[in-house]
Amino acid sequence: MAVGILLVGGFGTRLKPLTSETPKPMLPVAGLPVTEHQLLAAKRAGIHTLVLATSYLSEVFTPYFGDGSKWGIKILYAVEKEPLGTGGAIRNAAELLDLESLGDEPIVIFNGDVLSRHSIAEQIKFHQAKAADATLHLIEVDDARAFGCVPTDSDGRVTAFLEKMDNPITNSINAGCYVFHPSVIDQIPLSEVVSIERQTFPALVGGGGLLFGYKEQAYWLDVGTPAALFKGSRDLIDGDFHAMPGCTIDPTARIIGKSSIGRNVKIGSGVLIDDCIIGDDVVIGDGVSLSHCFILHKTLITAGVEKSRHYLSTAISEPINLP
Ligand code: GTP
Repeated sequence: MAVGILLVGGFGTRLKPLTSETPKPMLPVAGLPVTEHQLLAAKRAGIHTLVLATSYLSEVFTPYFGDGSKWGIKILYAVEKEPLGTGGAIRNAAELLDLESLGDEPIVIFNGDVLSRHSIAEQIKFHQAKAADATLHLIEVDDARAFGCVPTDSDGRVTAFLEKMDNPITNSINAGCYVFHPSVIDQIPLSEVVSIERQTFPALVGGGGLLFGYKEQAYWLDVGTPAALFKGSRDLIDGDFHAMPGCTIDPTARIIGKSSIGRNVKIGSGVLIDDCIIGDDVVIGDGVSLSHCFILHKTLITAGVEKSRHYLSTAISEPINLP
């Protein structure tokens, strides 16, 4: 048994314009918000209570997830008036958990923009076997120059937390899923802007804290950029496309390129959809052609429109180029 905190309050700047109306973790990937994929993984690992640490566009989460009963998990919401950074957000969210009553029950923290198929249950077991203060999932990448890297000793103990560099001393990077002993929370100041990666972890390592790296080379993707978000969606789809329940698709429509179609979407005759992410309740008129486009929920696309590499939403009058 464990409790969880999901960090979902960032601005998602690298994903603009997709994040102008939708927080990054609520963007659909293969028909479901990124957060829902994570919630399902958390539930499978035995997490019974999950705090969503929200800030930017916080109001978008509650109507979708409610109290979590639909998924059989208890969901609580912590809202930061101004984003407190990843560490400050964890401290703020933990206020909703009764830490004293948790005892040794671990707290699992998730970066809200990661799709990972590693075993959270195994990570928790590893953490408990080491009696660690904190255990980070580490993943090896071919080129670690774009990331901070995390060297470990032969026992798996983290020896340093290093910023981006031209010659990284290891290819192991922080994969954005941490198991904390509840006592670690007290080491993060309340109501202050704190970065868990730049402040808390280096201070823990420097102060002799028991910080461990759990290495599992499972499917892993940070969906922080438009290209990565589309890749994440395609990676989850077998076949040409995936459509959620309630769609009406004209038999003459062609849907290819591992496109993802949300719930209750209507697709007209002669439509071509290639490598697109389409939200819920979208109506696509006859003869429309879309290639590598992101269509937000509830958008109406009139007959004959042809677009490539664009973001379309009812809230904007003109489609915006996708980088
Ligand atoms: P960029 O602006 O494109 O870098 O994206 P981001 O704002 O989401 O930042 P980043 O990718 O570094 O954040 C990692 C995870 O932490 C994401 O899931 C964010 O939603 C979350 N996050 C980042 N900063 C905060 C914060 O201040 N508060 C909360 N609650 N979550 C945060």
